[in-house]
Amino acid sequence: MKNLKYLNKYFWKYKWRLLLGTIFVGLSQFFMVLAPKEISKALDFILEQTSDSAIQNQDFWSVHGQNILRFSAIVIGLYLLMGIFMYCMRKTIIVMSRLIEYDIRKEIYIHYQRLDFVFYKRNRTGDLMARLSEDVSKVRMYLGPGIMYGIRVAMLVIFVVTSMYQVSPKLTMYALLPLPFLSLSIYYVSSIINNRSDLIQQQVSKLNSIAQEVYSGIRIVKSYVKEKEFLDYFDEESENYKEKSLDLVRVNALFFPLMILLMNFSTLLTIYIGGKLYYQGEISVGNLMEFIIYIGYLNWPITSIGWIASIIQQAEASQNRINQILKVNPSIKNPIDNKIALQGKIEFRNVSFTYPDTGIEALRNVSFVLNPGEKMAIVGRTAAGKSTIADLLLRFYDVSDGQILVDDKDIRELDLFNLRANIGYVPQNVFLFSDTISRNVKFGDETATSQKIRKYTDNAALHDDIMQLPESYDTMIGERGVTLSGGQKQRLSIARALIKHPNMVILDDSLSALDANTEHKILGHLYTAMKDKTALIITHRVSSLMEYDKIIVLENGLVAETGTHDELIGSGGYYSQIVKKQSISG
Ligand SMILES: Nc1ncnc2c1ncn2[C@@H]1O[C@H](COP(=O)(O)OP(=O)(O)OP(=O)(O)O)[C@@H](O)[C@H]1O
Ligand SMILES: [Mg+2]
Repeated sequence: MKNLKYLNKYFWKYKWRLLLGTIFVGLSQFFMVLAPKEISKALDFILEQTSDSAIQNQDFWSVHGQNILRFSAIVIGLYLLMGIFMYCMRKTIIVMSRLIEYDIRKEIYIHYQRLDFVFYKRNRTGDLMARLSEDVSKVRMYLGPGIMYGIRVAMLVIFVVTSMYQVSPKLTMYALLPLPFLSLSIYYVSSIINNRSDLIQQQVSKLNSIAQEVYSGIRIVKSYVKEKEFLDYFDEESENYKEKSLDLVRVNALFFPLMILLMNFSTLLTIYIGGKLYYQGEISVGNLMEFIIYIGYLNWPITSIGWIASIIQQAEASQNRINQILKVNPSIKNPIDNKIALQGKIEFRNVSFTYPDTGIEALRNVSFVLNPGEKMAIVGRTAAGKSTIADLLLRFYDVSDGQILVDDKDIRELDLFNLRANIGYVPQNVFLFSDTISRNVKFGDETATSQKIRKYTDNAALHDDIMQLPESYDTMIGERGVTLSGGQKQRLSIARALIKHPNMVILDDSLSALDANTEHKILGHLYTAMKDKTALIITHRVSSLMEYDKIIVLENGLVAETGTHDELIGSGGYYSQIVKKQSISG
């Protein structure tokens, strides 16, 4: 129960609901236990009166109808009260569990968002989602039904056993004798049921992930004509699922008949022993009736104890998984709250960086200075470390060695969110949301008007493309933008970054999917749009249209060459080679 302790703070938060709920449970059970006493009295009364020979000759109803109606009214009244308080108990405790569920889910979600990339690489998305959905639901089962029925069972047992004891201690003992066995066997069977349900749950997740992967990779599956293989694989796992479900059905089919058999054993014993006691004059027929009703009452708690125990066990395991996540601390922290506009001076001072999970040394001793408004191109072979420079400037990771300064301050001392908000970043792999075009652009500036959106899509040479679409700016672009071409996605991503009005811009290979014409058009626009902005442009193609103040060539994480276009052409290194190749092909 160690892990569930974490939830105590929520119980404290909703303490009044919990207290009120407990009172409602108590009241409902109290009235429920009073009813059989009235039934018992009524029965004894009728028996007594009918054995009286004087009355036998008269019309029984005309003499006692009034009394019998009174008894019935009391019994109905008591059950009605029980029902009303049960309704109130659900309204308080189950509502409390839903409120706490909302709080926990929010807490986990906020925590997820604070965590850094290293965490996301170590954990699979499916697993993280399962904690947010399934694990939270299992904890909710404990908070709601678990707690509610737990309290109810405890109170009912106390009330019923006390009432039974008042009538006849001896009969109570016999009647309760089989119940522990019943409880144990139900616990045993329900843990088998739970284990099998878990296996089924896992199998469902597996089926889902197979289906998800096939559907998202449908182009590849079809083009490699692998439909049959995937179908066979899916078929096999579905078969597996069916077998596991049938296993569960078999246990379930046995469970209920067995339960009813065992429960009726108690009733049988009560009638047998109670009958004897009646003969000996120790109890009345009414008492016997009362007992049988009580035994009926107890059946339910006894069977539900096993169920409640397994709810608690599952919640404990789920909360353990949740706690593990909540314990992780982000390594990238925001040191201060200071929202200011940054001028955009960027300096790398002997920066080295090794990716923590792979151990790959991506940058070694990289240094450069960019004054506000300057433009720098970063070129170099694939895997040279270009994108890593962007990752570090955005503080997705912290440097292993050296320093990155913005406006002459170490970025680890700047407001993290303000730093990121001041950088317009167009990542190498475009990610778009499954929403409309205009809302994807607005992601960069929620307050943007349609004129403003139009201006920025125009700058990114995208407006004409958008007008061709059926609903222009309101066109839904499908999951991750599947309905757009590669180049359209890149341009949308550029518009989204620039509409932020950042003083610093990073374009990571953002024009790679464009034809030479479109590229020229955008570069022309970008040149004006980025006039006063500091820009890092990672590229494989060096265009004469963009005048760079500086160019660095990375090679295996090291700065191999640095200088202006003219200087580097003269030196005859990697840069001059690619320029030569491009001018030949162009
Ligand atoms: N998230 C990551 N985790 C671990 N290693 C990484 C990660 N990203 C990149 N690397 C490694 O760091 C090195 C530099 O990668 P980087 O992405 O910076 O190259 P790049 O110059 O941008 O290449 P490309 O031109 O292909 O985009 C590579 O060896 C790569 O394997
Ligand atoms: Mg890259």
